[in-house]
Amino acid sequence: MTDLLHERLVTPSILSADFGRLAADIELAMGAGARLIHVDVMDGHFVPNITIGAPVVKAIAPPVHERDGALDVHLMIEHPERYVDAFAAAGADAVTVHQEACVHLHRTLAQIREAGAAAGVALNPATPLETLTEARDLVDLVLIMSVNPGFGGQRFIEGARDKLRRARAFLPGAVAIEVDGGVGLDNAADLVRCGANLLVAGNSVYGAPDPAAAFRELQAAVSGA
Ligand code: DX5
Ligand code: ZN
Repeated sequence: MTDLLHERLVTPSILSADFGRLAADIELAMGAGARLIHVDVMDGHFVPNITIGAPVVKAIAPPVHERDGALDVHLMIEHPERYVDAFAAAGADAVTVHQEACVHLHRTLAQIREAGAAAGVALNPATPLETLTEARDLVDLVLIMSVNPGFGGQRFIEGARDKLRRARAFLPGAVAIEVDGGVGLDNAADLVRCGANLLVAGNSVYGAPDPAAAFRELQAAVSGA
């Protein structure tokens, strides 16, 4: 898993998949070469939207793991420390919490690693990188939000490019950098050049007429950047 985090990967977000045929939509992306599947968990408090919880992660984990894939779980929830263990037990390979939702971030990051998952922290667009000065040695992954979290299909916030460049300089080399929101063919290669190695893609994969072809095209742009 930690190896996958260091590759250059498009990580399809199932937020834009058809929840009525979730297994088939995941299989579609993995058949096209996807290895890391992004799972957006929302609680209706930290963000306005409500999505899915640990039981769904438990249901999708076995087929993803059978194909040598991994689950990248993005918790957009308040009090994530109450749920970290449940998501890790359900099969989450990486668990990312929001800096803004963690009063005791240091403890929560340690809790994620103790649960056997890679530890990620996400920053909203208005949250400075410097809030991670004392935590940057405790994380496997930093997720830079390039939209305000809560919904798929939003427009990319341009300031994220500079934040990614600064993140690459600010974070230890072993820390993976993920960008999430508004990623598409128009910006994917540049986002890699800015410093991201994991690019979440919801609408640009599952909103496309041919999601498998859209994934392959995006992944080729990312690999060739
Ligand atoms: C947004 C979520 C994203 C979302 C991205 O709050 O964290 O992962 O799925 O969707 P797109 O790629 O459609 O902007
Ligand atoms: Zn996400």
